[in-house]
Amino acid sequence: MSLNDKIPNNVNLSDDRRLLRALEQWQPSFLDWWQQVGPEGFQGDDVYLRTAISVHTDGWAHFDYVKMPDYRWGIFLAPTETERSIGFGDHLGDPVWQEVPGELRNMLRRIIVTQADTEPASVEQQRRLGHTAPSLYDLRNLFQVNVEEGRHLWAMVHLLHAHFGKDGREEAEELLARRSGDPDKPRILGAFNEPISDWLSFYMFTMFTDRDGKFQLYALSESGFDPLARATKFMITEEAHHMFVGEMGCDRVVQRTAELMRAGKDPRAEGAVDVATFQRYLNLWYTLSLDLFGGEISSNAADFFAAGVKGRYKEAQHEDHVALTGDYVVPVVRNGALVEEKVAVRNAMNEILRDHYVEDCQRGVDRWNRTLERAGLSERLRLPSRRFHRQQGIHAGLCFDTEGNLLTGDQWEARKHEWLPSPADRAHVTSLMQGVHQPGRIASWIAPPAKGINGQAFEFEYVRRS
Ligand SMILES: [Fe+2]
Ligand SMILES: [Fe+2]
Repeated sequence: MSLNDKIPNNVNLSDDRRLLRALEQWQPSFLDWWQQVGPEGFQGDDVYLRTAISVHTDGWAHFDYVKMPDYRWGIFLAPTETERSIGFGDHLGDPVWQEVPGELRNMLRRIIVTQADTEPASVEQQRRLGHTAPSLYDLRNLFQVNVEEGRHLWAMVHLLHAHFGKDGREEAEELLARRSGDPDKPRILGAFNEPISDWLSFYMFTMFTDRDGKFQLYALSESGFDPLARATKFMITEEAHHMFVGEMGCDRVVQRTAELMRAGKDPRAEGAVDVATFQRYLNLWYTLSLDLFGGEISSNAADFFAAGVKGRYKEAQHEDHVALTGDYVVPVVRNGALVEEKVAVRNAMNEILRDHYVEDCQRGVDRWNRTLERAGLSERLRLPSRRFHRQQGIHAGLCFDTEGNLLTGDQWEARKHEWLPSPADRAHVTSLMQGVHQPGRIASWIAPPAKGINGQAFEFEYVRRS
C-alpha cells in the first residue's frame, strides 16, 4: 500500500522518516480507539461519505461508499501564503514561525491539546446515536461528522508529533486515553463531557458547540505559528458541514412542529417536540457552548494575543492589531447589583470572540423563526442572556433568568425548569428516539430535508446496512 493510501497528506510525509514513523505508530492506537468508542453498531456498513483528498477548493472532496474504519483519515494544511507575516500582537509584522519559538512552546502545546481534545470527545459523546437516527440521511450525516472529527484529531496530532518531540508524542497518546464523561479521566472542557443521548441534543450540539469550534478555529487560523494557522484553516471548511447539520436539523424539527400546530394539533401528543421544550434545549446547549470561550476578563487570552498565537475572528477586519489602547465594557455583579466595568481590550479577547459567536447564533435562530412565521404562527425562539446558566467566567456561581436579571438561589431553584429541560422534557424527547433505518422513511418528530447530499435524493440509500 502506498503511503498516500495509508495516510493521505499534503505535508510531504514521505520525506520526513521520523515523523512518518511516529504517525505510523500512533495510527493503530487511533484505530483501536475508533473501534472501542467510535460509532457503535455500524462499523461494517457502507456509508456514503465525503473524504478530503486535497485542499483545492474545486475538488477537495470525494463522495463514495466507505466502511467507517476504512475512512482515509489524512493530514491536510491549507496552502502556504508566501511571505505571510504575523497579523497582531507584540510581534505584529514579523515573519510567521515555521517552528515553535522556545518561549511559546508551553502556550502553543496547551492550545493545540485543548483544541485536539474536543475532537475525539465529540465522537465519544455521539457514539450511540446511530441506533435512534430519524432517517438514513441523518445517520449518514452523523457518521460524516464523526469521521471528520477523527480527521481533526489527526490534524492536531500531526502538529504535536511534528513540532513538540517527546512531549508531543505523549500528548497524542493522552488524547486517546481520556474519555468523555469519565470522572477519572474526563475530557478537558465541560460541554464535551455532557452526554448526547438524543438527536435533539445532537442537532443542538452541532448548531451551538461545533459553532464554538468554528470561532476557535478562525482565531487560531490567524496564528503566527504557521503550521497551526494552515491546519485550522482547512478544518474550518469541514466544520461548515457540521454546523449545517445542526442548524438545518433544528430547522427541520421546528418545521415539523409548525406543521402540526398549523393543523391545530398538539406537537407533544403527535410524537413531535413542542416549542417550549425546543427552547429549553436551546437554552441549555447555547449556554454550555458560551462557556467554551472562557472568562470574560482573561489574562490568558491577553497573553495569547500579545504573543501572536491566537488572534481575533477575521483579524484583518480590525483596525488596531496591537490593541493596547481603548477598552471594552463588561457587565459585572458588584455588591449584588450589575454594573458596567471597563476592561483593557486585550483582556477582553474571549468576550470579543463570543460577540461574533452570539451574532452568528442569532442568525440561525432567525432562520428557525422564519420557519415559524411561514407557518403563520406567532411563537418565536430566542437566545437567552449570555449571563444565564453560566459555569465559567464572571457569572459562574450566580443565578440569572433568561433575560439576564439577577436571582437568588431559591428563585432559581423554583423556576429553573421553565428554562432548562425538565426530567419530563427529557423523558418525552427520549421516547421519540426510535431508529428509522429504511431508505426514504423518516421519524414523526422531524421534517425531511429540502435536498439530499451531493445532489442525491432524500430517498437515496445513504447507509447500506450489512
Ligand atoms: Fe472538529
Ligand atoms: Fe465539528
